Parts: sequence; structure tokens; C-alpha cells
Amino acid sequence: MKIFDRKKDLNTFTLQQRKKDCTIGLVPTMGALHSGHISLVKKALSENDLVVVSIFVNPTQFDKKDDLEKYPRTFEKDIDLLRQVSDKIVVFAPTVDEIYEGKVASESYEFEGLDKVMEGEFRSGHFDGVGTIVELLLRTVAPDRAYFGEKDFQQLQIIRKMAEIKHLPYAIIGCPIEREPHGLAMSSRNERLSKTTREQAGFIHNTLQTAKTKFGTESALNIKDWVASEFQGNPLFELEYFEIADEHTLTPALKIQDNQKYRAFIAVYADGVRLIDNLRLN
Ligand code: PAF
Repeated sequence: MKIFDRKKDLNTFTLQQRKKDCTIGLVPTMGALHSGHISLVKKALSENDLVVVSIFVNPTQFDKKDDLEKYPRTFEKDIDLLRQVSDKIVVFAPTVDEIYEGKVASESYEFEGLDKVMEGEFRSGHFDGVGTIVELLLRTVAPDRAYFGEKDFQQLQIIRKMAEIKHLPYAIIGCPIEREPHGLAMSSRNERLSKTTREQAGFIHNTLQTAKTKFGTESALNIKDWVASEFQGNPLFELEYFEIADEHTLTPALKIQDNQKYRAFIAVYADGVRLIDNLRLN
């Protein structure tokens, strides 16, 4: 399996492949790969001749130094896993210096308000960091399609907006959330949970599902209050936010409109680890 650590070499390689009429999929990751990532890789493999998987823990999207330091790094395991999946995978694993060339800073984007709510409100600068690295990866690889998980649904919408604003001609494809058997959304961060917390963490998805059953008959405000009270009764999980928002604008739904699509979004702390999830409501 080819592993590149330089932007220039990867770019030369993808240009050569394109000349041979090869289609290219890109799956950006921060490593610590799990079956959620593998489902993105498999989808990309089914739609392209070649798939570039990037593995890079991007410092500019972390608002807390501690979270960046504790982010799991399992490079050798990740490579073994990808080798087992297909020989059509190419890995890009650059250093921080290679990406940021001495100046570890984000660009500033205008995401038309998509970045001002939920994750954007609680993680200052996060989406500028995501935009910076994803734009760089897209420009370096110039893929036909790039794949992102819907667990980070707000991120997915923001990346779509970034591609639109910057006129990047690459298809941005959202892929469904993969879940552990009891419902916890797959995340590299799950590795940091204690065994008991991880076993109990289906509670987050169960709460979203019950919120969904209430949607349509109860007001968004009532559902929010109900979710808050569920969390108050569970000492293992601390609610940071629960929001019902329009899928496209991500603005909180005060009044439900018949012709709009809504999702419930949640962020929770457990064992000091921040977990997010979301569920389509209609
Ligand atoms: O979703 C992630 O893992 C990251 O935000 C991404 C898209 C790889 C950018 O660093």
C-alpha cells in the first residue's frame, strides 16, 4: 500500500492516476479507524477506482489542548486495517509541519451562519480548522468524490457550504451513521470511555429515538425540556446541548414547518469525553 507524507508527492500521484482515467475517492480521517470509517472507505471503493484515506489529527480544529493530546493515535493498527480492506487504498499521513508549514493557524471562513450554532457555539474556531484542512485535502487530491460521516452532520453541511463558496468541483457525499450494537454512534473517542460508561451509552441514542416519537405531537421546547430532565436523572452523562434544527440551515426549530426537514442534535460529556450524535426526525 502506498503511504504518502508529502502533499506534493500525493498531488503528483493523483494527477498521474487521473491521466489514466482513474476516478478517485477521498476519505478524510483523523485516524483511530473504526467500522464507521471503514464503511466510508467501502462506499468510496464501490464508487471510485482508487481511494485516498488521509490520516491526520488536525490541531487547528481542537479548541482544547487536552482533547488534542488525548485524541487516540493508532497509526500501525489503522494501516493494518486498511490493508485488509483493499489494495486500491492509498494513505496520506502528513506531519503537522508538512500541512501548516510552520504556521499552525486556520483560515477564516464565512459559512453563512452554519457555524454559529451547536458545535460552533461550544467549540470556538472548530469549523475554521475543519474548513482549512478539508479545503487543503480537497485541493491536494482533487478527488471525484469526498466522503464524510453524518455523525458530524453539522460538519458535513459546513463542508458542502465551503465547497460551494470556494467553487470546489468535488462531490461531497454524506454517509449514514454506524452504531455500536446498543446504539452508541461509532467514534474514535468511544475508546476513551470506561467499560461501564460505554455499555450504558446506548442511553444517548435511545433518548434521541424517544425524542423522535415525541416530534410532531409535542413542541420543540417541550421535547428539549424532556431531554434535559432525562439527563438530570442519569449521573453518567452530562448534557451539553440538545437541539432540534432545520437540516439545511441548522437554525433551531421554534415552530415546526410542514415542508422542512428536521434533525435532533446532541452533545454529551461522559467520563470527560465529549460525544455527539444526531437523528433525522421527519
Ligand atoms: O471528521 C473528522 O474526522 C475530521 O473533522 C476531518 C473531516 C477528518 C477533518 O480533520
